[in-house]
Amino acid sequence: MAYNSDTFQSLISHAKEYGYIFQSSEIYDGLAAVYDYGQNGAQLKKNIRDAWWKSMTQLNDNIVGIDASIFMHPTTWKASGHVDSFSDPMIDNKDSKKRYRVDHLIEAFAENLSAEEGAALIHQMEQLLAADDLKGIKQLIDDNKIKCSVSGTANWTDVRQFNLMFSTELGSVADEASTIYLRPETAQGIFVNFLNVQKTGRMKIPFGIAQTGKAFRNEIVARQFIFRMREFEQMEMQYFIRPGSQKEWYDFWKAERLRWHKDVMGFPVGRLQFHDHVKLAHYADAAVDVEFHFPFGWKELEGIHSRTDYDLSRHQEFSKKKLQYFDTEINQNYVPYVIETSVGLDRLVLATLSNAYAEEKWQKEDGSEDSRVVLKIPANLAPTKLAVLPLTKKDGLPEIARDIVNNCKGSFQCFYEEKDSIGKRYRRMDAIGTPFAVTVDHQTKEDGTVTIRYRDSMQQERIAMQEVKAKIMDAILA
Ligand code: GAP
Repeated sequence: MAYNSDTFQSLISHAKEYGYIFQSSEIYDGLAAVYDYGQNGAQLKKNIRDAWWKSMTQLNDNIVGIDASIFMHPTTWKASGHVDSFSDPMIDNKDSKKRYRVDHLIEAFAENLSAEEGAALIHQMEQLLAADDLKGIKQLIDDNKIKCSVSGTANWTDVRQFNLMFSTELGSVADEASTIYLRPETAQGIFVNFLNVQKTGRMKIPFGIAQTGKAFRNEIVARQFIFRMREFEQMEMQYFIRPGSQKEWYDFWKAERLRWHKDVMGFPVGRLQFHDHVKLAHYADAAVDVEFHFPFGWKELEGIHSRTDYDLSRHQEFSKKKLQYFDTEINQNYVPYVIETSVGLDRLVLATLSNAYAEEKWQKEDGSEDSRVVLKIPANLAPTKLAVLPLTKKDGLPEIARDIVNNCKGSFQCFYEEKDSIGKRYRRMDAIGTPFAVTVDHQTKEDGTVTIRYRDSMQQERIAMQEVKAKIMDAILA
């Protein structure tokens, strides 16, 4: 369906109304850029996480998963370069005191220019950012007379770099306490465990280590719901390779991750594209984003980075412990190179909801109009797979329906409901995104069949009660 800012707002309201996503600590008016997942959101997120984990660790013989801590030794972040380089250029408006990321400020301004002028401005900005030319960026903002949306003035400070890491104190005695950071990426937990995993798992290069978990960044946020959060979840995989083979593995993982977004997440080809980085992060020799067409435009979903031996070499240098691999095939010791795939779980949830949300209207046989709001979430990811609905609360129908639930609930999430008309119950299941609903009626008692209704087509057919479980299992494993 065509998107505009109204439909995006409707999607956000829908996500709240149907138990997907709530503002964090809402009763205290919320906390900016922090969100909680409700009963359906948490299950959707888990299903996506499980699908990623399975693709990485179960379907690849040479990739294993770990679960490292959020807190790490503070030297980790010096070695990784985050203490010195993990920052965004920001500018403050002196009148409104509002702080902006300069790229967000310029991008918002460019949207109101002609396509050609906008593209030229963005190109100029990217060149200046790539050269770390903060004075040039300030000049660009001044030359274009870009104004603050709150104060309406162009009274700006200089452009400055702000580190994005959250810090806190470890230890209870003030003078013994040391500053530690909430991890801004999960990747470093993998790097520092590289030898532990390689040795204990007797892994041979090439091999991968995968991990999912929370990361924290003190982001200056644009209003894009769960797109840019201060606390979010990453799913990262570091693939350790022989130096010199990075181009081959970079291309391999680019193609593989695009395939995953299409085949496992069910995203249409037209909503996915690659975007090469102009400015490379301090650790990378090549980098590309997989972008998704969100309701607010093309934005990064996943990063694929060729990180060379930067991280392992730096940890080797700072820890003074060897982080090398002896390659028996070529009889050589080396620090492996790394290709990283790094995807945001929350962004996958948002992409899934954006792709699934539809407001549909149609004409009924009697000429009147009908409508529904539906989440067409792929069956493998939907939080609830099956709704079981007895037509009435009497005549033994609830008992039969409960039997179906009991037979299925060990294999997948089911939902039982007997309140309201069948039509209303179908609409509620459409809104939650439940792909299948079976109705138990009086005929069920006679011949053991039920009506199965398909969410996307709204088609119905009668099938034997015994077939229900296998049919759903086939759909969710397809
Ligand atoms: N280890 C590499 C790394 O962290 P990144 O491009 O900074 O690379 C990877 O982040 C992915 O993490 C992004 O593509 C995005 O999906 C997700 N991500 C990053 N910052 C985020 C934020 N503030 N909120 C939600 N997701 C975020």
